[in-house]
Amino acid sequence: MARIIAGVTTSHVPAIGAAIDRHHTQDAYWKPLFDGYEPSKKWMRETKPDVVILVYNDHASAFSLEVIPTFALGCADRFPIADEGWGPRPVPEVIGHPDLAWHIAQSTILDEFDITIVNKMAVDHGLTVPLSLLCGEPREWPFKVIPLCVNVIQYPPPTGHRCYMLGKALRKAIESFDEDLRVVVFGTGGMSHQLQSARAGFINQDFDKRFLDAMASHPEELVRIGPLEYLREAGSEGIELVMWLVMRGALDDDAKEVYRFYRVPASNTACGHMILENPRA
Ligand code: DHB
Ligand code: FE
Repeated sequence: MARIIAGVTTSHVPAIGAAIDRHHTQDAYWKPLFDGYEPSKKWMRETKPDVVILVYNDHASAFSLEVIPTFALGCADRFPIADEGWGPRPVPEVIGHPDLAWHIAQSTILDEFDITIVNKMAVDHGLTVPLSLLCGEPREWPFKVIPLCVNVIQYPPPTGHRCYMLGKALRKAIESFDEDLRVVVFGTGGMSHQLQSARAGFINQDFDKRFLDAMASHPEELVRIGPLEYLREAGSEGIELVMWLVMRGALDDDAKEVYRFYRVPASNTACGHMILENPRA
């Protein structure tokens, strides 16, 4: 049987990917941030999952305002790297796990989540930057990746509660897959940031710290935060944090925080990162 052993959250700031690709990780601006991910890279090497379910948002790379799926599951056997305007990032192609992905599609859709099945999709910084932060620069990614996209680009996004409940359905799906696979769920994006308009550059460290504090022990408080509260308290792009709640819903209630990192700023964003482990995994 497949099982979820841990969850990872991290911001996905595109400038982090550019800093890696252009070898700027040891520059004064970036070094403290990359140092903060060194323990996580070690944890990732030791944890060695077979599959990562990577919850992220597409930034109008694979989708556009013509088609806006609320939840889209990547069922392909490979996912090319998107060209976001400067050519694709020089990172390995992402290899999927179609059998598990189709099983998750069946299980969650029959559990009444309206998932869009995607058989062809390029993946952008929302997916590749978290992989780079946790895995460094390998020739091949060390695990299969199933992309799960959440619409947080065009109002209305799904609620945090819906995302949390999707995490629970995801767990049920994984635990009913008849193959011994060790699975880690990534919830990416956030933390507080606003890229546009009068409050561009807005960051709220108090909000972020309360969010991080609640992740392990009382996520039910986070699930009640609505879209207007995210907008007001975490800036217009702070809504990406609902994707962390898919990960949290997929883990045990008593999951343990094993690592946390927070740094302001990374580009325009408060960069937050956490690792939670299932105690009985
Ligand atoms: C930035 C952050 C994001 O999450 C994103 O998708 C694009 C840009 C930034 O901080 O620059
Ligand atoms: Fe983003």
